Amino acid sequence: MRAKIIGTGSCLPEKIVTNETLSAIMDTSDQWIRSRTGIRERHLVSSETETTLSMAVQAAREALSDADILPQQLDLIIVATVSSDYITPAAACLVQKELGACHAAAFDINAACSGFLFALNTVDAYIQAGIYQTALIIGVETLSKILDWSDRSTCVLFGDGAGAAVIKAAEEGMIASLQGSDGNGSDVLVCRNRTNNNPWISTDKSPDYLYMNGQEVFKFAVKKETECIQILLEKAGMEPEEVTYFLLHQANYRIISSIARKLKLPPEKFPTNVDHCGNTSAASIPILLDEIRKDRKLSPGDILLLSGFGAGLTWGAALLRW
Ligand code: ACO
Repeated sequence: MRAKIIGTGSCLPEKIVTNETLSAIMDTSDQWIRSRTGIRERHLVSSETETTLSMAVQAAREALSDADILPQQLDLIIVATVSSDYITPAAACLVQKELGACHAAAFDINAACSGFLFALNTVDAYIQAGIYQTALIIGVETLSKILDWSDRSTCVLFGDGAGAAVIKAAEEGMIASLQGSDGNGSDVLVCRNRTNNNPWISTDKSPDYLYMNGQEVFKFAVKKETECIQILLEKAGMEPEEVTYFLLHQANYRIISSIARKLKLPPEKFPTNVDHCGNTSAASIPILLDEIRKDRKLSPGDILLLSGFGAGLTWGAALLRW
């Protein structure tokens, strides 16, 4: 048996922040942001009731309803995030409590923007091993809380949001997958946790914010994602033309179009939402998947190739039949 996605959901914060709004509070412009990234606006958390947990739960409820599955039927909940509300317990346990998913094991995965794919691959492995049959995976981020709002080179790029998928063991679904990491690239995209302030180490350091070497990430993303897609298709014995849609991590429109060009495929095969969501890290692929499902762009039997990259460095990809 393999993992099959049977329902999706998503949640974006109410507040939409356009490039013009950002230009009014920092030295940037719609022209700079749009030409370099394709981003026009992003949703950002703007009230105390909008949290990583609240967005995860809303996306999860939608996915469960779409799949016609009750929370009590779930055996497993995995949340992929780097911006949980708590260091402990895991966001997945809090989601479990809110949903009343009393029979599920729940834990989080930190693989940055590749997190949703790591979660999907983990569920597929559990299903292949016969351990679990029904799972909920969520990619969720409130990256706005770890951004340095005085650093225009990073803060304009990201958005907040959540995407979820319900997965069931089925004869057909996942066709092939891969994931990988290279810790040697750990310094190009970094956000330190709180520093130790125990009685023996006294540090005065204020918390760090997200640091990114944009050009290094750009080069890595184009090379590694193209490679991942080619390896995965080869593994499955499929041609790129057989794929209905390539759902890539929504970091930057230029990265996505470079990959499409390298694969000699038309841009229509690469739906995007980076223009109105920005980069929502682990949430970007499931939000996009939910959008295209709601737009009725998917039919049974369609082939989807999901692929992403992120801090770590990490990368992952999955080829599946809808
Ligand atoms: N507005 C106006 N000017 C800006 C801004 C801004 N928001 N940010 C930077 N600049 C300026 C810089 O100061 C620099 O000015 P200078 O030439 O006078 O020094 C100039 O613009 C060019 O800056 P670069 O960093 O060279 O711009 P670049 O063309 O490389 O684009 C970008 C930057 C958009 C970040 C690009 O490198 C990129 O997209 N990288 C990939 C990022 C990415 O994918 N991140 C996701 C990673 S994984 C994850 O999702 C967590």
